Formats: sequence, structure tokens, C-alpha cells
Amino acid sequence: MKFFLDTANLAQIKEAQELGIIDGVTTNPSLMAKEGIKGEANILKHYVDICEIVDGDVSAEVISTDYEGMIAEGEKLAALHPQIVVKVPVIKEGIKAIKYLSKKGIRTNCTLVFTTGQALLAAKAGATYVSPFVGRLDDISHDGMELIGQIVDMFNYYGMGTQVLAASIRNTMHIIKCIELGADIATCPLEPILGLLKHPLTESGLKKFLEDYHKLNG
Ligand code: G3P
Repeated sequence: MKFFLDTANLAQIKEAQELGIIDGVTTNPSLMAKEGIKGEANILKHYVDICEIVDGDVSAEVISTDYEGMIAEGEKLAALHPQIVVKVPVIKEGIKAIKYLSKKGIRTNCTLVFTTGQALLAAKAGATYVSPFVGRLDDISHDGMELIGQIVDMFNYYGMGTQVLAASIRNTMHIIKCIELGADIATCPLEPILGLLKHPLTESGLKKFLEDYHKLNG
């Protein structure tokens, strides 16, 4: 399973890239705002900065909600860097825009997916990725992971090439469930990924190894 880092924070992206464990980055307008990135020129430059740090796909989201606006923005974003994937919301105009962009060879990530029906429409339009939001479903007492399993099964059953990019992944257990369910990618901050390393037997085992070494070697 691939990991994308879900952040626009350059320091965190550098740290993860240096660890060698990430395959791309996803951003959204909220994550860009969190980093204080404002104004079109700065926003576009920030996407390029991310692409220059990380190997792999970098999702950059359109802010238009009409078809013409989305495709104009999508083309502009895609022209920034070969690693850019255009992130488009799963609304009627967005589905049309995904169809247009995918026909032009521009890769897309269909975002804000909360049902299998939305995922199916995105896949039929040619989306490279669909992003079902796990944590936000959990927030309203729905099982976000169940949706991941359903979409993985649907794409496998119908032989659809769209990849399941599990988003709104908030904790390490979400990642473990993504692995079990066969999600193609999980996108999340660095912290839950680092949680995968934690095990008391690893910690106590390492402590003992070092104590035994130092008993003889000082
Ligand atoms: O990629 C979408 C993701 O950033 C949403 O995460 O935690 O805001 O629900 P969250």
C-alpha cells in the first residue's frame, strides 16, 4: 500500500521524504490555508515547491465549482509540474470536468467521496483516484472503513482501474484497516504513519540488546 502525506507543510513533507516512506502528497484548500499560503501566485509556487521535495503524485485542488472554471484551473495546475494530479470535488460539474481532463491525459483525484455511488461515477468519468473520507464519516457515526471496503470490492468486481485513495485518515488503526481492506493508498499526516513503528516488545528488546552490549563493552 502506498502512503501519501496529507499536508501542505513543507517541513513535514521533507521529513517524510527523508524517511523514504512516502509516495506522494495530497493537499486541499484547508491545508493550504493552515500553512498561511494565500494569493494565486503563492499557491501555485507552493505546489511546485512540494513537487520538488517529494517523489510521486501531488494533488492540487480546484476551487471553482463550475465546469468551465474547473477545467481551466485543472489545465493550469497540471501544467505546473508533471507530478501534479488535479483534485476535483464529486459534484455534477466535477464529474464532467474529470471526464474532460482524463480525456486530455490529465490525472485527477475525485475528492469528498462519501458513497459507493459517488465513487462509481468518478471512476466512470476516468478519475485516476477517488478519495473517500474515512474520518469524517466516523465523525458522524458512520463506519468510514466500511466504505473503503465497499469501493475496493466494487472496483475489483468491475475491473475498474481507478485507485482507492483512503483520505481523512486520522490514526494508525485506520492505516491498519486500509491495509486489510486493500486500499491502494492511505493519505494522512506523518504522525499516524510513525505510529506503525510503535511496539513495546521492540522498545524493550532494543533496550536489552544495548544493556547487554554495554555490560561487556562499557
Ligand atoms: O484529504 C482529505 C483530508 O485532508 C481530510 O481530512 O482530517 O480534514 O477530515 P480531515
